[in-house]
Amino acid sequence: MKISVFPTSEALAEAAARRVVNALRERPDVVLGLPAGRTPVGVYAELARLTVAGEADFSSATAFALDEFVGIDHSHPASFHRFIREHLIDPVHLPHDQFHGLNGAAGDLQAECDRYETAIRDAGGIGLQLLGIGGNGHIGFNEPADALPASTHRVTLLEATRLASAALFDGDIARVPREALTIGVGTILKAEAVILLAAGQGKAASVERMVRGPITPMLPASFLQAHRSVEIFLDQAAASRL
Ligand code: GLP
Repeated sequence: MKISVFPTSEALAEAAARRVVNALRERPDVVLGLPAGRTPVGVYAELARLTVAGEADFSSATAFALDEFVGIDHSHPASFHRFIREHLIDPVHLPHDQFHGLNGAAGDLQAECDRYETAIRDAGGIGLQLLGIGGNGHIGFNEPADALPASTHRVTLLEATRLASAALFDGDIARVPREALTIGVGTILKAEAVILLAAGQGKAASVERMVRGPITPMLPASFLQAHRSVEIFLDQAAASRL
């Protein structure tokens, strides 16, 4: 794991965006895996700025959203698909037919998961996967558990994750869905390269266990230790226990 610590969130966002732009330059048709959440917002804003400045061209890229709440369709304000579209896809003019998301409102959720896993495989797999990390060490919505399904699947959310997501539902945890769809840890480990972003004191403990702890499904991000190309971008608070 290559770990970089940045003094400000702006410096972190610039470095991560630069890494994405370099991947695009090497391969304009790169397949990106993208998270929602607070952490990547600065990176997405910087990528939008670089696109306007003519330094980034997403017109040939493909993108897959990492996860989605069950019961939420792409028009819902809390939809991760919608979040990524508004923060990145539209600002960088990535064509909509090259952006894929999980439909949390699909009638047959298992079929939706199978469709998504096949779509990722048919696209040639993920070239560059961006990730955040949960305070409990989850990646995507792969929650700590005795065992982790490898591929895209339906998952029951833990209380801590529902609490952390309440802001998306007007602060009302009762409205946060109890389940989600997520690409699997196996899908993530098949990506050619992974960049994980973490900011804030609330991530320090899970970052420490991800980097230093044993590989365990109780800390899903720890599986990234087994990947040959992982870069961890941290602010000082998230790195404070390393
Ligand atoms: C959420 C999402 C993840 C995200 C993580 C961190 O629950 N399922 O995809 O990366 O938790 O979110 P944030 O960046 O808002 O802290």
